[in-house]
Amino acid sequence: MKPLRIALTKGRLESDAVRLFEKIGCDCSALNHKGRKLILPVAGGKLEAVLAKAADVITYVEHGVCDLGIVGKDTIMEHGGNFYEVLDLGFGRCRFALAGPKGRDFFGGYSARTVASKYPNVAADYFSGKAMDVRIIRIEGSVELAPLLGLADAIVDIVETGTTLRENGLEVIEDICGVSARLIVNAASMKLRKDEIENLAGRMERAVRPAEGERK
Ligand code: PRP
Repeated sequence: MKPLRIALTKGRLESDAVRLFEKIGCDCSALNHKGRKLILPVAGGKLEAVLAKAADVITYVEHGVCDLGIVGKDTIMEHGGNFYEVLDLGFGRCRFALAGPKGRDFFGGYSARTVASKYPNVAADYFSGKAMDVRIIRIEGSVELAPLLGLADAIVDIVETGTTLRENGLEVIEDICGVSARLIVNAASMKLRKDEIENLAGRMERAVRPAEGERK
């Protein structure tokens, strides 16, 4: 049988994902010495890890070329898609927040507001929930620049430690919601390889949420 193929988000979530595999007893030596390789065997070839950008993890899982994926809830909220979200893995914890220049009253007054974000859909949903008409500009990274340069009044972005905001004279105006890494599964794989997927997801679940008695 082909190995189950799992797409892992490169970067921030990568080392925690590898640690999780190790915790459930999977040999990750290839992942730990990957060089520039993008497809690597895990657990002696029982699994195959694919290293991809967050949004691409969703694309590969949706199209069924990967059976599973590990990706942030932030990317899931922004892109949506047709797959099962089966497990909150508990790592990669951060939050979505509206942030802006310190001491500025974002909600006061009647003038039209502009918000920059790497997550325009999340930002649009957030403001439509408030029945606020806000212009949203998509920025690819270092979104904190937009209010500093005068392009936007505020940003909707991920806040982890708060350091980037602090060091750039910005502050959280309002928290939107918490996010963390999720295990996602292709809809067809969920049917065709149910037992293997449930076994893997079950081991992951026990590793991230050990039962009371097992806690060290
Ligand atoms: C994220 C986010 C913030 C920063 C928050 O950016 O967009 O800029 O991290 O982290 P902190 O609260 O711990 O400072 P990332 O580092 O992923 O880079 P990017 O902005 O270039 O996408």
